Amino acid sequence: MQPTVIAPSILSANFARLGEEVDNVLKAGADWVHFDVMDNHYVPNLTIGPLVCEALRKHGVTAPIDVHLMVEPVDRLVPDFAKAGATMISFHPEASRHVHRTVQLIKANGCQAGLVLNPATPIEVLDYVLDDLDMVLLMSVNPGFGGQAFIPSALDKLRRVRERIDRSGKAIRLEIDGGVKPENIAEIASAGADTFVAGSAIFSQPDYADVVRRMKDAVAA
Ligand code: DX5
Ligand code: ZN
Repeated sequence: MQPTVIAPSILSANFARLGEEVDNVLKAGADWVHFDVMDNHYVPNLTIGPLVCEALRKHGVTAPIDVHLMVEPVDRLVPDFAKAGATMISFHPEASRHVHRTVQLIKANGCQAGLVLNPATPIEVLDYVLDDLDMVLLMSVNPGFGGQAFIPSALDKLRRVRERIDRSGKAIRLEIDGGVKPENIAEIASAGADTFVAGSAIFSQPDYADVVRRMKDAVAA
């Protein structure tokens, strides 16, 4: 198990003052910035690209930027995000014709590689690629929007992926994304997640530090 990471999804931040929002959430104790990229093709929503990632780096953000690509095709954007300052790049296997090649491409560009499993994607997709990954990201909502409810079957899936990661003996992170909040994070952590994305649960509250603290305390308890 890797040390706990809280990765606020800036999808729920105020985009009109994004730099300040990111500064504030990091000052509040968050560890990474979760950066949701949507293309109105792989998912029915449209968000931000490499320019915004680069702008956050230029603004002075030094924390890891965890780029979650919900785009199809994937490969063309990988070098752009690497140049823009992405730390890790995760993608959905359904959106890449050659999953192994995309993983290698991400690593060749100097980033850590993650594979994202949708709620209905079987974990067998990890069979021949797990050892090459730095992170597995399990979606606990269908990708495309913030503020959805956590899908309970993700808990069993977390347990099964956790077993596989432990069996591999590798330092692979297990990240969960969708509907995570202080009230359910303890149960999610005991199912095996070590990296927690939370968008609406953090940015809807006036005191980011209070939410981040409650999340970390619940994981540690
Ligand atoms: C959904 C995104 C998530 C989302 C999480 O497609 O990948 O990162 O913003 O938002 P909440 O925490 O509000 O479910
Ligand atoms: Zn995400």
